[in-house]
Amino acid sequence: VSDMLVDSFGRQHTYLRISLTERCNLRCQYCMPAEGAELTPSQELLSANEIVRLANLFVSSGVHKIRLTGGEPTIRKDIEEICFQLSTLNGLKTLAMTTNGIILDRKLPLLKERGVSLLNISLDTLVPAKFEFMTRRKGHERVMKSIDAAIELGYNPVKLNCVVMRGFNDDEICDFVELTRDKPINVRFIEFMPFDGNVWNVKKLVPYSEMLDRVVKRFTGLQRIQDHPSETAKNFRIDGHQGTVSFITSMTEHFCAGCNRLRLLADGNFKVCLFGPSEVSLRDPLRQGVDDTELKEIIGAAVKRKKAAHAGMFDIAKTPNRPMIHIGG
Ligand code: GTP
Ligand code: 5AD
Ligand code: SF4
Repeated sequence: VSDMLVDSFGRQHTYLRISLTERCNLRCQYCMPAEGAELTPSQELLSANEIVRLANLFVSSGVHKIRLTGGEPTIRKDIEEICFQLSTLNGLKTLAMTTNGIILDRKLPLLKERGVSLLNISLDTLVPAKFEFMTRRKGHERVMKSIDAAIELGYNPVKLNCVVMRGFNDDEICDFVELTRDKPINVRFIEFMPFDGNVWNVKKLVPYSEMLDRVVKRFTGLQRIQDHPSETAKNFRIDGHQGTVSFITSMTEHFCAGCNRLRLLADGNFKVCLFGPSEVSLRDPLRQGVDDTELKEIIGAAVKRKKAAHAGMFDIAKTPNRPMIHIGG
């Protein structure tokens, strides 16, 4: 393993998030504007072969976990083939996926066979009418079915990503925690983050301290689990519960010091930080026929430019970034 993926603060990057598509079958308000986000012409998106070629460079340089995101990764037609190719890369230990669960239950058996070993499913409300409001589409029941399908197929834990927004779902925090009583579910409450076009507002942000307080008041025997240093989540178990509860505190207690994540976007741009605006195209040199050594130089140089942390929460809200749908979280 070279030092290509070590940044100037000594952080080793072992986790690559690959966005497979800019499209989605939902229209979540916190992710994109009502009219949708602009789509890159399809010939400018990475093909399956290009994704695998680039992923291989990262894996041979120390990445051992790849997460597929989007948009919604399951709507990409060649998803099974991509999973298969990636999961057989020499050195990869984990192939994960973050999905909205809308068409997951019918896709899951094959995805599992093709190597997807970790599943994070987005679910922000347990109330169907609220789901329809937030996602501007129907589908609550299908997501619930997918969660059950994932549990039945043995995913343990199935992680549920719940973006908490004041006045929308902050009254459901304890109902979500209740789900962990009898199921191998890890409910993860996520602080609402600002992205281009998602009308972020500090009043809608429910801070970690407040979320935790609500859980502590209702459930006894909450214990912090020792997290891996590069975890995005602060994890807790609750006495007598099969599942666990976590908080992703990007806004009030960022976790940049332990960051091990890099991002490859669907258009082939490489992003070293979720909030940093700087991006470099890997697609262009790839299509110009450069060799692996030159590609690694481009990647290594971008990693070395990575900042220690993104600035405070109001600065993030002012820094230009893409809409979330293009980045994949
Ligand atoms: P695990 O691999 O299961 O730990 O999942 P993950 O948290 O890495 O990925 P997931 O796609 O489930 O993302 C959950 C939330 O964490 C989303 O809101 C992401 O935007 C956020 N997140 C993921 N990586 C980063 C990061 O590097 N920085 C920040 N600030 N947030 C992140
Ligand atoms: N703030 C916090 N989390 C978000 N996600 C999407 N948009 C936001 C936002 N504005 C979450 C989704 C998904 C994950 C990849 O990122 O719920 O689970
Ligand atoms: Fe789609 Fe996920 Fe964005 Fe919602 S958060 S619109 S499910 S990509």
